[in-house]
Amino acid sequence: MTHTEQNLSSKSEALIAKENQYGAHNYHPLPVVLERGEGVYVWDVDGKKYYDFLSAYSAVNQGHCHPKIVGAMVKQAQTLTLTSRAFHNDQLGPYEEYVTKYFGFDKVLPMNTGAEAVETALKLCRKWAYEIKGIPENEAQIIVCENNFHGRTTTIISFSNDETARKNFGPFTAGFIKIPYNDVEALENVLKSTKNIAGFLVEPIQGEAGVYVPAEGYLAKTKALCEAHNVLFIADEVQTGIARTGKLLAVNHENVQPDILILGKAISGGVYPVSAVLTNDHIMNVIKPGQHGSTFGGNPIAAAVAIAALEVVKEEDLAQNAAHLGEVLRTGLNEIASRNSLITLVRGKGLLNAIVINCDEESDLAWNICMKFSEYGLLAKPTHGNKIRLAPPLVITESQIQECLAIIERALNDFR
Ligand SMILES: Cc1ncc(COP(=O)(O)O)c(C=O)c1O
Repeated sequence: MTHTEQNLSSKSEALIAKENQYGAHNYHPLPVVLERGEGVYVWDVDGKKYYDFLSAYSAVNQGHCHPKIVGAMVKQAQTLTLTSRAFHNDQLGPYEEYVTKYFGFDKVLPMNTGAEAVETALKLCRKWAYEIKGIPENEAQIIVCENNFHGRTTTIISFSNDETARKNFGPFTAGFIKIPYNDVEALENVLKSTKNIAGFLVEPIQGEAGVYVPAEGYLAKTKALCEAHNVLFIADEVQTGIARTGKLLAVNHENVQPDILILGKAISGGVYPVSAVLTNDHIMNVIKPGQHGSTFGGNPIAAAVAIAALEVVKEEDLAQNAAHLGEVLRTGLNEIASRNSLITLVRGKGLLNAIVINCDEESDLAWNICMKFSEYGLLAKPTHGNKIRLAPPLVITESQIQECLAIIERALNDFR
């Protein structure tokens, strides 16, 4: 790929060169080096200010460096940071009570990253299948969707259909059946025709696939099918959860309560790696001491930070803000699309949105548009080539959205 490069300061250039020399090349970042963040804004090392329209892949829903969340972290960091789960700590119990009541489940299993939480959910699902449902050992199958993104571990990429994510990482973990996303009938057919199904793992909106929103009713219908076949409905809300789509959880749009809920990213406001798997006793109780865990999962800082981050979501009514400003953003984007044929489609829910650019997935155009956004003070990143995700922190205001729409239009007009 040949990418248009920005005029970089020598300071930025030197820092990027260091990453290139000493770091693995497992990402392809936009050439901007950030050193500070506050609310919806980040600043680069030369003091240039940008709107953050990625929010660290929806981790920073509460805005950068939210004082309440950072305050909780600093206070706890000065008191007790890590005990491991070999001992109890005074933050974990109160957090577990808070988070389970917040989302309406009996129990939580605390982990650190999204991928770890997905792995945890898969293990839980399999164990439940063998010990409660009665599936013969090693025969359990979990249904997943095409174009899914659930993380980067070996098991998770085993059921990805992104060849870049999989190539030369095999052999892969067995026990997964892939069906098309947003296809209720496909799920029904597999459930009817295949024995030993333990669970259905699904993203309520496929974020990495380019903010692909399923048809209304998809989640409720697939949940009902799972219930009818005694199969666990596992919602991966790592990206869609915590007010991002205009409700606390994306499944709430269809009044669905998953059997297993996976959260990560914004459960800490992007301040600390925290993830969680929530479920009820009849499932969670299959896990016994020694069967699963993590040195850092449930540590005192994570517990204190997550309570603060979840409180902010309620105190600042972030779900309502995301719902309202999502409408404003999509309306504005559709108006731009009516004037500029570079945008072929606007889609999303709440403040998880994408524009599809009028080019094929291999083209550089979306990247070059993001470079232009950056030049004009807005950071966004293409996903799957020709889609640009637009997902600002949920603390953004209406006048800031209008300012961002003006930046987006100005940048797009440069390509006409
Ligand atoms: C839906 C979903 N699940 C899981 C993950 C993995 O999370 P992490 O990068 O924290 O491992 C992501 C990350 O983007 C995600 O979007």
